[in-house]
Amino acid sequence: MLRVGVLVSGGGTNLQAILDAEKSGVIRHAKVVYVLSNNASAYALQRAASAGIANECISPSSFETREDFHRALLAAIEREQLDLIVLAGYLVKLPDEMIQRYRGRIMNIHPSLIPSFCGKGAYGLKVHEQALSRGVKVTGVTVHFADERYDCGPIIAQRPLVVEEGWSVAELEAHIHEVEHELYPDVIQLLAEGRVHVGADGRVVVDPAH
Ligand code: GRF
Repeated sequence: MLRVGVLVSGGGTNLQAILDAEKSGVIRHAKVVYVLSNNASAYALQRAASAGIANECISPSSFETREDFHRALLAAIEREQLDLIVLAGYLVKLPDEMIQRYRGRIMNIHPSLIPSFCGKGAYGLKVHEQALSRGVKVTGVTVHFADERYDCGPIIAQRPLVVEEGWSVAELEAHIHEVEHELYPDVIQLLAEGRVHVGADGRVVVDPAH
């Protein structure tokens, strides 16, 4: 059973989808044991508490230096002995040291088909605004491993979404969320089954189901 930590900053609908997927049996070989937020008022923390999961806020603003914050963050992650770190709307850039220590064990979900509409500053509704103003007919969701850059790590899975004429930013976001809530649990289960490998060329290969 993989010990999973979920890092959040906001509402936590993806966290909720993961917890629901544990209950429904979509996720069978992994368990969320820890939820961390940089934001004490993140509703995601309440979701964790309601589910009886250990949770805490470690905020950069309560530390004098970024280094102190990074030290506290790493100490908490180490203490929890996590096998997998799932970024679910976590808006803080992870320290390089943490990426190096957990390479291949930190996943992120991004609400577009990378490499479109991603990188520094492309988060939240901005991603959907960019997609709609570019007039794309298809967008989607990407799950990838985290590396030292924004949205650049090896891509594990992508799922497309056809954009319908006249959708508002809020409508597009709602449809993207539906896709995310299916895809993220599926990918966590794939990883937990040991079927996800990063090749020497930096590309991900997923073993077929037996
Ligand atoms: C999601 O759209 C995810 O793709 C992005 O942040 C959002 C988090 O939403 N990284 P929620 O907090 O899970 O509702």
